[in-house]
Amino acid sequence: MNSNDLIDKKVDSLLNLMTLEEKVGQMNLYNGFWDVTGPVPQEGSAEQKYEHLKKGWVGAMLSVRGVEQVREVQKVAVEESRLGIPLIFGFDVIHGYKTLSPIPLAESCSWDLEAIEKSARVAAIEASSVGLNWTFAPMVDISRDARWGRVMEGAGEDPFLGSQIAKARVKGFQGDDLSANNTLAATAKHFAAYGFIEAGREYNSVDIGTSTLYNTVLPPFKAAVDANVRSVMNSFNEINGIPVTASKFLQRDILKGKWNFNGFVVSDWASIWELINWGHAKDKREAAKLASTAGSDMDMEGYVYIEELVKLVNDGTVKESIVDDAVKRILRLKYELGLFDDPYKYCDETREKSTLYHKDHQEAALDIAKKSIVLLKNENNLLPLKKEGQKIALIGALASEKNSPLGSWRIASDDNTAVSVLEGMKQYKGNSLTYEKGVDLTIGKTHFVEEVVINETDKSDFPKAIEAAKDADVVVMVLGEHGFQSGEARSRTQIDLPGLQQELLEEVYKANKNIVLVLNNGRPLAIEWADKHIPAIVEAWQLGSQTGNAVAQVLYGDYNPSGKLTMTFPRNVGQVPIYYNYKSTGRPINREGNVFWSHYIDSERTPLYAFGHGLSYTTFEYSNFKINGKTFNINDTVEISVDVTNSGNYDGKEVVQLYIRDLFGSITRPVRELKGFELIELKKGETKTIQFKLDKSLLGFYNNEGEFIVEAGDFKVFVGGSSMTTLEKSFELTE
Ligand code: BGC
Repeated sequence: MNSNDLIDKKVDSLLNLMTLEEKVGQMNLYNGFWDVTGPVPQEGSAEQKYEHLKKGWVGAMLSVRGVEQVREVQKVAVEESRLGIPLIFGFDVIHGYKTLSPIPLAESCSWDLEAIEKSARVAAIEASSVGLNWTFAPMVDISRDARWGRVMEGAGEDPFLGSQIAKARVKGFQGDDLSANNTLAATAKHFAAYGFIEAGREYNSVDIGTSTLYNTVLPPFKAAVDANVRSVMNSFNEINGIPVTASKFLQRDILKGKWNFNGFVVSDWASIWELINWGHAKDKREAAKLASTAGSDMDMEGYVYIEELVKLVNDGTVKESIVDDAVKRILRLKYELGLFDDPYKYCDETREKSTLYHKDHQEAALDIAKKSIVLLKNENNLLPLKKEGQKIALIGALASEKNSPLGSWRIASDDNTAVSVLEGMKQYKGNSLTYEKGVDLTIGKTHFVEEVVINETDKSDFPKAIEAAKDADVVVMVLGEHGFQSGEARSRTQIDLPGLQQELLEEVYKANKNIVLVLNNGRPLAIEWADKHIPAIVEAWQLGSQTGNAVAQVLYGDYNPSGKLTMTFPRNVGQVPIYYNYKSTGRPINREGNVFWSHYIDSERTPLYAFGHGLSYTTFEYSNFKINGKTFNINDTVEISVDVTNSGNYDGKEVVQLYIRDLFGSITRPVRELKGFELIELKKGETKTIQFKLDKSLLGFYNNEGEFIVEAGDFKVFVGGSSMTTLEKSFELTE
């Protein structure tokens, strides 16, 4: 008997011993912050949660963390409940626990799957040392809308890259052995299409076509399932009038049916209860019926299953087999995590002490932080900065921030633990450095659950910044968003530099044009003015604990930037949603010189910075682009090769990208689709030949019935260092 069968056998025997109440109890996930106020009006009291723990009516806890706390709560479940079934302990370990890596969107810009996996691994090592064994990550939602605050949590706009990153993150969290005490069960979320909420407004509805669902939204989830992700979280949105939590089509037919997913589905926070607010369920009873039947296995802080499901089974409205199926999935994970062998296996005070903020973790965070930075513009090689004899004026409130760079999902980490850009720059002692904040970005305290208040009036520090700029050889301005301006419930309608920062930038520019703009933000920003005027622009996102060190090393050329954008930067918010893999339309070009083509009358239609864009201090040349034929059978593999030469003055890295265009399809195809990439390192003067292969699995697509098909016809192939590359060749695919 293999280990899966063995676990199934144990699960079945345990299930036989359980009462209906105990089974439904396993489908219940409680938050451990006893006094939390969330969206459910009658949230459970601490006393009630404790009573339920003792009865074995809780399957998992969230936010209980720290060895001492976890042990204490686990003890109640194991020692005081009738069957002593251990709890799973979950938490939002999104980009680190104490040591923070860059926000996931930033990490995705590294295109470095190994480094991304490592970052998730480090997060798992730290989080598991405090007793946790389950993370609500990775978020694999594809999004094209920079207004949505949660784009910071994903891997950008592309399903191919998003799928690779989903796999890397799942692997990083889960490692090779789930039962090891330093791994976490991962959660692919939010299933599905949350990234497509209308107008980027948080928790809004989604209205997308079947083709987008199959070809864009679902692939990263499928990749996570193929990588054996152990749980999937459903999403807050509806699709086609059905809130996802109640979607049988998504949860049972696709996820558990077609894809054979044998982990469990956890609801998002109170999303089962929210079926009532959506106007889909008239009361909790109906919500419980709809969600359980549709395949939502665990109720996160909704108090719906625990109150209604036993009654629903007893009166025959919900089949007991539905409850059994959910409970089996949950118990299976408990066995896989090794919790039945030792419920306290993640609880080791010594390990906890020696693991958090470990220096190896800081090193890993620095490594991925450098790799996540994208050089957007570098006129006249203003960067890298000279290391000696320069007067540098560093300007911007964000430059001295030690909190904001930690990003939005950093609830476990300690405040002010990031290395600020100011601290990072100070380590380069050959130049003289003056710092002026110029203008405050925020007013008062910033907090994960509270609105950020932006300074819109106080410009009293402008003059000092302008004076400092006048006197400097180079001005480095760190501007952008506060870490709590992106993330959950942080949608924006303006995606420019918030507050008075744009005005400050323009005033400083009048005093000194030699400006390096370092952006700190959790989403693409509309910075058309800056692109037009500022000679050098560095996208530094929110890079986590090691922010300042990473930024300084890039500015001074100790690390040659290698990141490439994974989300398109629009010129203005009106272009959003904007993405590289759009459809041609019937009128793609201005053929007759009249107005009747697909464009805007008040803006270019092109992006400011395209998907895949990112510069280096060196230059790369592409040559010898070849395909091994002109015509191929559908079952053949198309082989592509290209030589890449480092033709500049620095060693450097390049992300070589391969795109295709399927010219005609029974379902219209995007103008470009990423189908391969390779991150290479080249010494100056060095050339490497890069090979790509395209087979059926890359040349096909999903039709509107959700079947994967490959069609004969004409294709174009593009290679280069961004989605805008003009190097192209063609081939034909025949039946
Ligand atoms: C978020 C989830 C998160 C959960 C638990 C929800 O509001 O949408 O992504 O995992 O809270 O914190």
